[in-house]
Amino acid sequence: MRPEEGDGSSVAPGFHTMWSELRPVGRHPGTGGYRRFAWSGADAECRAWFAEQARRRGLVHEVDRNGNQWAWLGNPAAGDAVVTGSHLDSVPDGGAFDGPLGVVSAFAALDELRARGVRFAKPLGIVNFGDEEGARFGLACVGSRLSAGRLTAEEAHRLTDADGVTLPRAMEAAGYDPDAIGADPERLGRIGAFVELHVEQGRALDLTGDRVGVASAIWPHGRWRFDFRGEANHAGTTRLADRRDPMLPYAETVLAARRNARLAGAVATFGKISVEPNGVNAVPSLVRGWLDSRAADRAALDTVVTGIEQAAHEYAEAHGIRLDVVRESFTPVVEFDHALRDEIARILGGAATGLRVPVLGTGAGHDAGILSGTVPTAMLFVRNPTGVSHSPAEYAAEDDCVAGVTALADVLEGLACR
Ligand code: GLV
Ligand code: MN
Ligand code: MN
Repeated sequence: MRPEEGDGSSVAPGFHTMWSELRPVGRHPGTGGYRRFAWSGADAECRAWFAEQARRRGLVHEVDRNGNQWAWLGNPAAGDAVVTGSHLDSVPDGGAFDGPLGVVSAFAALDELRARGVRFAKPLGIVNFGDEEGARFGLACVGSRLSAGRLTAEEAHRLTDADGVTLPRAMEAAGYDPDAIGADPERLGRIGAFVELHVEQGRALDLTGDRVGVASAIWPHGRWRFDFRGEANHAGTTRLADRRDPMLPYAETVLAARRNARLAGAVATFGKISVEPNGVNAVPSLVRGWLDSRAADRAALDTVVTGIEQAAHEYAEAHGIRLDVVRESFTPVVEFDHALRDEIARILGGAATGLRVPVLGTGAGHDAGILSGTVPTAMLFVRNPTGVSHSPAEYAAEDDCVAGVTALADVLEGLACR
């Protein structure tokens, strides 16, 4: 059963209500996918929903200088806070779970802890990080990167969307002050532990038959822009021999990416392309393709990307095309905090729950990965039976979502109530 079809749960009583409130926001009626892009109307609706959840629970709601939203129980200035949450934005036609499951589960876990009558010894925070997917401005995890000082205000000010709108103008249009953005060490310094719950984006838990897992590491990953420049010309009258068509080396490069990734046991994807002038009856003047590549270690990733670049340059030269390759972002390997991971495994594997909690690596990027250089950080994964993600078909069963909420509540209780 999907969470939106559920009839309530004694473990996570607010889960269904929250899920059905969020469900229509930014959902495209044709595709059923989510289009919750940073600083858009749908993003504003998600943000209003978050603020309302905080209000309903008597939490102190604040928006930091980078547009990340926080809901606090207790005073964060006391320090050593325990924080959980994720993001509410989406990729183009994304699924319902990537991001929102972590935020909804965070509020549901707090409800569960209150129902248990626990006493919090530390401040508890729930966070919605802004622009995690980078769908609009091309860079993932902008909110957490800025706060952690992994992206400067100057770099962020130069980010531009497909319509030429810069990040500062988009923030301004949404009512935020772009001049305030920048590193936020004081705020992050108050956090003793950050735990992000996320739908699994693979099938490891399905294969082991477990509902919940804990993260070990995130593969190093990055995004590269390939600009193939040729000459626009008439599709009907230009002889093949006279063309300088950038689509040809681009197409060959896509195949080379696949080949190089397979050989290195890595992944490489050209998932986004823009073509100029983009006419059916015109040879293109520009083909711009974005490569996303990830591997288990840095050496393998370097090998793959270098191989793809070399091949692309050879193909471009053979077709008389100019090629420029720009690395737009890079995130090194993330090893989550071992002590926190062991503590979580101890809490979840303890006598009370007896849960078996596999430890999993992932090729997906997360705000938890960005924060891990600054704050002790961990992740919980909830089983996804098909492994599909970044698609409307993304799915987690109700029982598994509830198990995720319970596990998160146990973890928060173990970390914040001692
Ligand atoms: C985000 O989900 C990413 O892995 O790109
Ligand atoms: Mn995602
Ligand atoms: Mn996510």
